[in-house]
Amino acid sequence: MSFVYLCTQNTQYNMSNRTFTMIKPDAVKAGNIGNILQMINAGGFRIVAMKYLKISTEQAEKFYEVHAARPFFGELTQFMSSGPIVAAILEKDNAVADFRKLIGATNPAQAEEGTIRKRYAASIGENAVHGSDSDENAQIEGAFFFSGLEQF
Ligand code: CMP
Repeated sequence: MSFVYLCTQNTQYNMSNRTFTMIKPDAVKAGNIGNILQMINAGGFRIVAMKYLKISTEQAEKFYEVHAARPFFGELTQFMSSGPIVAAILEKDNAVADFRKLIGATNPAQAEEGTIRKRYAASIGENAVHGSDSDENAQIEGAFFFSGLEQF
């Protein structure tokens, strides 16, 4: 069995149990990386891959291209490239839905008590964390940041 075969199998295995997240520039700047990772761990998610990096505006435009026609696209991509972020792939049964429950509504004013966005987000634009909205997008978004060799 070849090395490439094994890597491919590993990255495609059980994708419905994985989601992708970013701790956004506002939460990084506010010193909340540790608090948010603690909530992610306490929520039962295992870290499959993680990196601390700053993306360019062009990379943010590519990542969020499904929102290109939205009026907030420029604001969103400027903000996401304004400072460092933490990108991570997380694993848990029912990962996408359970992570969206943990982070709360996109607009923190509507987020439930105890959610990450309720605690750490200031506004709909600067909302502390991203979470994939489907298994398919979790796979696409994870692959945007991580090669198979960076996923464990
Ligand atoms: P996220 O989960 O990263 O996915 C798309 C992002 O667009 C979303 O979080 C918000 O940060 C941002 N967004 C959605 N709606 C608005 C809005 N009305 N104004 C500004 N940003 C928005």
